[in-house]
Amino acid sequence: MGEVDPAFVQDVEHRPNLAAAQAEGIPLIDLAALAGYSPSDGEVADSAAVEGLVAEIGEACKEWGFFAVVNHGVPAEKRERIEREAREFFGQGLEEKKKVRRDEKRALGYYETEHTKNVRDWKEVFDFTVQEPTVVPASPNDGEEGVIEWTNQWPEYPPGLREACEEYAQELQKLVRKLMGLIARSLGLPANRFDEFFKDQTSFVRLNHYPPCPAPHLALGVGRHKDAGALTILAQDDVGGLEVKRKSDGEWVLVKPIPNAFIVNVGDIIKVWTNEAYDSVEHRVMVNSEKDRFSIPFFFNPPHYTMVQPLKELTDERNPPKYRPYNWGKFFVGRKANNFKKLDVEPLQIHHFRI
Ligand code: OGA
Ligand code: NI
Repeated sequence: MGEVDPAFVQDVEHRPNLAAAQAEGIPLIDLAALAGYSPSDGEVADSAAVEGLVAEIGEACKEWGFFAVVNHGVPAEKRERIEREAREFFGQGLEEKKKVRRDEKRALGYYETEHTKNVRDWKEVFDFTVQEPTVVPASPNDGEEGVIEWTNQWPEYPPGLREACEEYAQELQKLVRKLMGLIARSLGLPANRFDEFFKDQTSFVRLNHYPPCPAPHLALGVGRHKDAGALTILAQDDVGGLEVKRKSDGEWVLVKPIPNAFIVNVGDIIKVWTNEAYDSVEHRVMVNSEKDRFSIPFFFNPPHYTMVQPLKELTDERNPPKYRPYNWGKFFVGRKANNFKKLDVEPLQIHHFRI
């Protein structure tokens, strides 16, 4: 039994079951019917196959909040390239990585001290935003107006990291547009309903490295959480460790790695937009004592000035809004500051806005 810094140790009820039985996993959705569709067409191509996809995605968002996609149109070489560069980046000494370390002022770049629900995660990350620069509120506090610009911090080594990241982000941008179009249609809305949230978006990509851990029964790579943004698209390697809390029975189930697939999950914003028709589900990451694990989530987030609230089209007298509007930018920068270090206050959650 290994020893770890107590900062990493989870409370007993949140420790992983390393030998969890693997029953029914998340739905697998084949996007082949979308081949040839280009987001600039505005609409998702109409066909019986696409209608089927729309229904499958709606069902998955409702019942699981998670699904895997294959034949998604992201070229394998773009993904392999960013995965290679990420390995190379994290393989360097701490001194080199710390040259692009984030701090209280610069929210992007490298860091190794992220906390989830005030327990330290067994991981190191590198964050970059999709929009350059990304505009966000200067302060998470209500009443303190003013915005700032986040700019990416690119390392000198490996020299190819920046281009690999930028190209990958462009590809994921196309995929997330298609998925948001399908999700809109599954709600009975026009395919372009969510287009307005792409302009000035605060989306970001995270390179995750989970080193081998001497105490995988005590620590987690990422503690249990829900993603705060709209939609997450995750590339995971073949090691495995991501677990989802299955809605039907509350069991933690492993999300099995599928070569070349992406894992998609609903974030809190879609949960609020849909007035809880679609669910953001808890997930966490187990670590292991032998293998390094790498993953790359793309977090699709709306512009900072978005007031997140149940969509008018999806609410009425019989289904009144379950949430008060909240400002995404304030929420987002508040969360970022909170994850950076251990605080004494409870992190901001959407249930604080529940009516
Ligand atoms: C996250 C996350 C999962 C993974 O970064 O929010 O849930 O497998 N990551 O790395
Ligand atoms: Ni997550």
